[in-house]
Amino acid sequence: MFFTTEEQRFTEFERGRNMSIKFPVTRTTHPKQKPDWKNLGFGQYFTDHMFNIDYDEGQGWHDGRIVPHEPISIEPASCVLHYAQMMFEGMKAYKTPDGHVQLFRPDMNFKRMNRTNDRMCIPHMDEDIFMSAIKQLIEVDSDWIPSEPGTALYIRPFIFGDEVSFSVHPAKHYRFIVILCPVGAYYSANDGGLSATKIYVEDELIRAAVGGTGFAKCGGNYAGGMKASVKAMEYDCKDVLWLDAVEHKYVEEIGTSNAFFMIGDEVITAPLMGTILPGITRDSVIQLLKKWGIKLSERRLSIDEVMAASKSGELKEVFASGTAAVISPIGSLVFKGDEYKVADGNVGPVAQKLYDTLYGMQTGKVADDMGWTVKLDI
Ligand code: COI
Repeated sequence: MFFTTEEQRFTEFERGRNMSIKFPVTRTTHPKQKPDWKNLGFGQYFTDHMFNIDYDEGQGWHDGRIVPHEPISIEPASCVLHYAQMMFEGMKAYKTPDGHVQLFRPDMNFKRMNRTNDRMCIPHMDEDIFMSAIKQLIEVDSDWIPSEPGTALYIRPFIFGDEVSFSVHPAKHYRFIVILCPVGAYYSANDGGLSATKIYVEDELIRAAVGGTGFAKCGGNYAGGMKASVKAMEYDCKDVLWLDAVEHKYVEEIGTSNAFFMIGDEVITAPLMGTILPGITRDSVIQLLKKWGIKLSERRLSIDEVMAASKSGELKEVFASGTAAVISPIGSLVFKGDEYKVADGNVGPVAQKLYDTLYGMQTGKVADDMGWTVKLDI
């Protein structure tokens, strides 16, 4: 409990529309030039403002504010710079053809944030603060939401401990910041279409073991994966498919996304055993496939089974799912130096239908019969 009473909770904030918290805003005096919406890349351009709130032990989250997006100052002895006590989330806002702005399943990001916080000994975030901060920041920077095909406004909330201490213990002071960036596709060509990518199967290094932090969205998971990413790049691969930590045998996740394999008429994805990220897109894919009557199994799948299916022609599709990746078809896998084709190496029909449906719902072009989109009152 970070605020003792409802009253105290809102002493610094005035309640705004929809019972949300209204944070003070300091507007930039130097608005940036907007980027070329057709060539956004991923994480290259940032909007004019960001949200900041502090946490102090005994006081809770306090002094929420929207300020110009600019470099922050941090004491070099801050614990995050040494022991990596931090977490982040990834979500997107979309502009619909009728001019509305909407989010996709933001409640799932909020819940996952607090599960990560538990694992990283970071204090829980409050749902009102999280949702109000995101809504108000998007409202302030609403002219940064792109509407070109394949684009979205990426939202990156993150928390880090910045207590000045070299003791290895949870910090007593944290900062929660939200930054925004208009983005295109993470892997594919920036033309709003899908194209198949090549992925490297890592069979020596490991990403996560049961009991570790694999399910949590913390920076260390990504830093620990970079050595394999460098190997992937040597094979001209866009990312790494990780195998399990014990036997180096079962497929787990791709560094930035979850992985799905269609063998014959069955779509298989790794089960949630604590080693992979419980992706919100992953969950949405599972629900859609079940609704469409496609056989979906959350089960362990060995890389040998995948390779045998590639050779026999039974490997119909492989695709990645994630907030950044959306649905990214995989055309081939590099394993122990050999390249294995996925069917004809092109975009498969299941990946295409999933992309069209999910991105269509997110951008308001396909009716959302799952109740996943949340329209913002801006
Ligand atoms: C996301 O999909 O939001 C992610 O966090 C992936 C990121 C590492 C690019």
